[in-house]
Amino acid sequence: MPAVASDPLLILGGGLIGLAIAHRLALAGRPVTVLSRRRNEAAGFVAAGMLAPHAEGLTGNQLALGQASLAAIPAWVAQIEADSGLRCGLRPCGIVVPFTSAEQRDAYPTAAWGEALGRAGLEREVPGIGGAWRAGLLFGQDGQIDNRRRLMRALERACVGLGVTFEEGTEVLALERDSGGRFAGVQLRRADGEALSLPAERAVLACGAWSAQLLPQLPVFPVKGQMLSLQGPRQALQRVVFGPGTYLVSREDGLLVVGATSEPEAGFGEGLTPAGQRQLQAGIAALLPEASQWPPMERWWGFRPCTPDEGPLLGESPIPGLWLATGHHRNGVLLAAITAELVGAQLLEQPLGASGAALLAACRWDRFPGQAGSREAHQPSTRQA
Ligand code: GLY
Repeated sequence: MPAVASDPLLILGGGLIGLAIAHRLALAGRPVTVLSRRRNEAAGFVAAGMLAPHAEGLTGNQLALGQASLAAIPAWVAQIEADSGLRCGLRPCGIVVPFTSAEQRDAYPTAAWGEALGRAGLEREVPGIGGAWRAGLLFGQDGQIDNRRRLMRALERACVGLGVTFEEGTEVLALERDSGGRFAGVQLRRADGEALSLPAERAVLACGAWSAQLLPQLPVFPVKGQMLSLQGPRQALQRVVFGPGTYLVSREDGLLVVGATSEPEAGFGEGLTPAGQRQLQAGIAALLPEASQWPPMERWWGFRPCTPDEGPLLGESPIPGLWLATGHHRNGVLLAAITAELVGAQLLEQPLGASGAALLAACRWDRFPGQAGSREAHQPSTRQA
């Protein structure tokens, strides 16, 4: 087994996933450098911070991964808070998913994990909920974290305190390989315009929606989401409400984060659109009519890194020496903890255990049938002529 290299490991991408892995490695005493283009474009700053494997109706491997991460989050957050001295705003507040009929509720993929609610239960859990909703599921185990205002800052400070080096404003232009095809470093452009080649033996690609720009074999594409926030009264809404096309995430101080459109057709198209904002306003009016009167605070957008099965790409890449931590689609905040644990263990050559190994194996980059460069595409057909 090759010795763990002591030169800095590069993290390509300074978003939540990149920071979470940097933190994990720095805790183990490894030298790490994070190359970050623009912090505020990271999906970790855009997301609403729901921790919602059950409320989002995940299934199969995505559900298993989400549940494992949900279980890991309290200890992960406690470590970040201890290392940074900052609170992360973790709230195990429960999430309510409303439905227009009991039949729809009972057919929800994760119904077995929730408490079934009728209209009276909905009104108890979400006072003021719109009249169209007749049934619901309460997932008391799901929750939220204040990613935009707290978690990202705390994680960054924890990393700095543990000696992680940051190169902000640095755009990675290309990956470099040696004659044997191994990862050998990156070409980059610094904030002052200087272009240079940075040699390195190992890196983690955590570039979110932009990942395929560096490694076109990766089946990662952007799914734009528009968001807004309102200032509600403190304590107005205790539960997160996850409706179809719109969700409401109430922070401790009453700030209501409202998401989100899902626009794969937009590509990397920047900006808000009237249609997107109308969708959110209509969703607010349907879910919690009184919130339509609350003062607007901010509007923003970002790009989810999606894959064909909406699950992340974790672990080894087609390039030896380069690891992947990308493609988390709607669940990057939820999955940051398990991503750091699994990819961190792999990088540190620590045992994963059978369940960790199984989770990681389900997240291989080449798991998609017919994918160029995938294992399947390279396997001979079993049918004999
Ligand atoms: N997880 C919520 C979203 O991506 O909009």
